[in-house]
Amino acid sequence: MRTFGLDIGTTSIKAALLRKEGEGIILDSITVAPAPPKGILSESLVDHQAIANEIKEMLQSAQIKIPDVVLSLPENQVYTKIIEMPQLSEQELSAALKFEMEQYIPLPLDQVRTDWQEMEKREVAGKQVMDVMIVAAPIVVLAKYEKVLALASLNPQAIESEIISVHRALFPILNTQTNNIIVHIGSATTSIAIVKNGLISMAFSIGVGGLAITRAISVDLGIDLTQAENFKKVYGLSNDAFEGKIGKALTPILESITGDLRKATLLFKEKNGGAAINQVVLSGGTALLPGIDVYFTNTLSTQVAVSNVWKVHGISNVPDQVVVDAPSYNVVIGLALRGLV
Ligand SMILES: Nc1ncnc2c1ncn2[C@@H]1O[C@H](COP(=O)(O)OP(=O)(O)OP(=O)(O)O)[C@@H](O)[C@H]1O
Ligand SMILES: [Mg+2]
Repeated sequence: MRTFGLDIGTTSIKAALLRKEGEGIILDSITVAPAPPKGILSESLVDHQAIANEIKEMLQSAQIKIPDVVLSLPENQVYTKIIEMPQLSEQELSAALKFEMEQYIPLPLDQVRTDWQEMEKREVAGKQVMDVMIVAAPIVVLAKYEKVLALASLNPQAIESEIISVHRALFPILNTQTNNIIVHIGSATTSIAIVKNGLISMAFSIGVGGLAITRAISVDLGIDLTQAENFKKVYGLSNDAFEGKIGKALTPILESITGDLRKATLLFKEKNGGAAINQVVLSGGTALLPGIDVYFTNTLSTQVAVSNVWKVHGISNVPDQVVVDAPSYNVVIGLALRGLV
């Protein structure tokens, strides 16, 4: 059995093919290509065609020939909300949510496609309640992704928001009696989820990521973006290079992320009888920033782990560089795992 995941990001497109053999998972193919400049955010057919062409080429060279694909949408393109409902049967819940959704989704219901998932069941003040995650994606956004896939002769089997993919990719390490916070820092956005006993209990996104870090370095040091990107990857938060100027330039961006993490943690604490977050799990390409784990540990006084999906699932046949860049692949591997685990 083989499954194919496709992650169309702001700066890169990633595709992966997984195969299950006995209890083991094998990486049959993995490929990354830079996203065309205007990318998926553009509304023009010419740009969509460019992405489709890029996808076709990369799949051809990676020998991925399966048309059925699982795709993710960036967190800032979807509305995710976790709401508390009485414990109902699936049928009752489905009927009840039709009325509930309207007040939680900021778009008219005929302009979105909605989905929901049962989360934690618990008792609050003697009442049996359950958390339900509702997800809504604007039909115009879905239509755009579907168009790009059709142009690339691909057939979407499922579309989900990227934090769901990351959660699936890291599920074995999250599925414990602890509270974790996933911080997935890509290039344009950071997606965050608090995971309680293995289940997502809060999810949101912020509009900064690796691109903002590179820009901050470029402006502060008066260098171009390419050089700033290189310095970022080599020196990160190190104090040794350029009198620590690179770290100083990028700290405000990290502060904006940790600031939001603190607020989310407080909210979680309030809702869960003072429960603390036991661990921060870093994901996304920016989790590779040198020194970011130490920065998060010191700033949040919490244990920090840089995720490694290859280790988490014991996936074999992974090229060396892909092993090193593990946190970059959580979305695409989470997608491919959807049909596999
Ligand atoms: N070694 C590294 N050190 C610091 N940053 C890195 C490193 N490697 C990659 N990055 C950064 O990670 C970001 C890319 O991450 P990722 O591949 O998760 O993003 P994406 O999926 O293309 O974007 P998005 O999900 O925001 O649309 C870029 O900003 C890149 O500069
Ligand atoms: Mg991404």
